[in-house]
Amino acid sequence: MARALVFLALLCLVTSALVCVGEARKMVGVYMLKKGDFSVKVTNWGATIMSIILPDSKGNLADVVLGKDTLAEYVNDTAYFGPLSGRVAQRMARGRFVLDGKVYHTYINDGRNAIHGGHRGFSKVIWTVKEYVAGGDSPYITLYYRSFDGEQGFPGDLDVYATYQVSSPYVLSIRTNATALNKATPVNFLQHVYFNLGGQGSGDVLGHTLQLSASRYTPMDEELLPSSGRVDPVAGTNYDFRTPTPLGARIRQVMGGKGVRGYDINYVIDGAGMRRVAAVRDGTSGRALQLWANQPAMQLYTGNGLNNTRGKGGIVYRQYAGFCLETQAYPDAVNHPEFPSVTVRPGQVYKHDMLLKFSF
Ligand SMILES: *[C@@H]1O[C@H](CO)[C@@H](O)[C@H](O)[C@H]1NC(C)=O
Ligand SMILES: *[C@@H]1O[C@H](CO)[C@@H](O)[C@H](O)[C@H]1NC(C)=O
Ligand SMILES: *[C@@H]1O[C@H](CO)[C@@H](O)[C@H](O)[C@H]1NC(C)=O
Repeated sequence: MARALVFLALLCLVTSALVCVGEARKMVGVYMLKKGDFSVKVTNWGATIMSIILPDSKGNLADVVLGKDTLAEYVNDTAYFGPLSGRVAQRMARGRFVLDGKVYHTYINDGRNAIHGGHRGFSKVIWTVKEYVAGGDSPYITLYYRSFDGEQGFPGDLDVYATYQVSSPYVLSIRTNATALNKATPVNFLQHVYFNLGGQGSGDVLGHTLQLSASRYTPMDEELLPSSGRVDPVAGTNYDFRTPTPLGARIRQVMGGKGVRGYDINYVIDGAGMRRVAAVRDGTSGRALQLWANQPAMQLYTGNGLNNTRGKGGIVYRQYAGFCLETQAYPDAVNHPEFPSVTVRPGQVYKHDMLLKFSF
């Protein structure tokens, strides 16, 4: 308890007084979800996954998630290690959109554009712990956040829930929902956890093989926006992962932002509803991950922006030290009527479910 109080005081120093006053009754804590030798650590700071520990094929445990050692470092983090991003995650051109004839301007925090809901999006706020069941068959934690009208420029109050649950065998489910309370608003969440199935800090992920259930993608411009509005086939491009292919096989041939090589690209996932999106395997450790989700799209990000970034236990993450599989709506959908709508009207519910199935 004393440590939590000390941390809260620190949090008030490093973030703005606004957050501190508004959230003073909330505590930031670390919550363990453990089932046998599978354990997941979550904090209500940004609804962040701090670690996922499981065995490899020889029985050696490792943490397969990149991140930080202390909560204070998560507060400062700019790489988005493990949080739930919203209200509108991913990039939004000029932080601007028109909804029902009204122009909205949101916080600009990625060049001249917005990313991950602004500089104090859902990944940078304290969530309320609604329920925490540490033991039993399927330990879980349910986090709640009430986003207010005008927060980071977005319209209307929004009720948000995120539940992280561990179950057999080596499954982590993430279920989120959001209800618009009084105004129509765009909504798009994504989970920004970085994986390295060889264990965080074990080197790069270029040897991991990836298979994606995606035959189409949205080409990106230099600012990583789908400005052309095109949806192109992956066939014959360096983006084709329909059959298992090492992440590194063609990574030097793709641009992941201005002057940076690597994948930072949105795929349109084949099919609809809860379905398999991706399968990744690290041959060295024998660990594999299957991702299932109910979203139309997924951003593949190969940690292009990591550049001697300080991580856990004094480890320094170099470029490609981890990868993210961010199931989502189409990026910048608010400015592309040709993409599926992300508008949630009062009384409507947004639901984004993910299943992470590990094996070794
Ligand atoms: C967070 O950033 C501030 C400002 O750059 C710095 O003074 C502080 O030491 C950082 N805290 C941690 C825990 O890294
Ligand atoms: C959202 O999730 C919470 C927590 O799981 C649940 O209690 C609530 O019923 C859900 N809301 C909707 C509208 O599905
Ligand atoms: C990494 O950081 C160094 C030193 O700040 C810089 O010179 C270099 O351009 C950066 N590399 C990338 C890929 O961002």
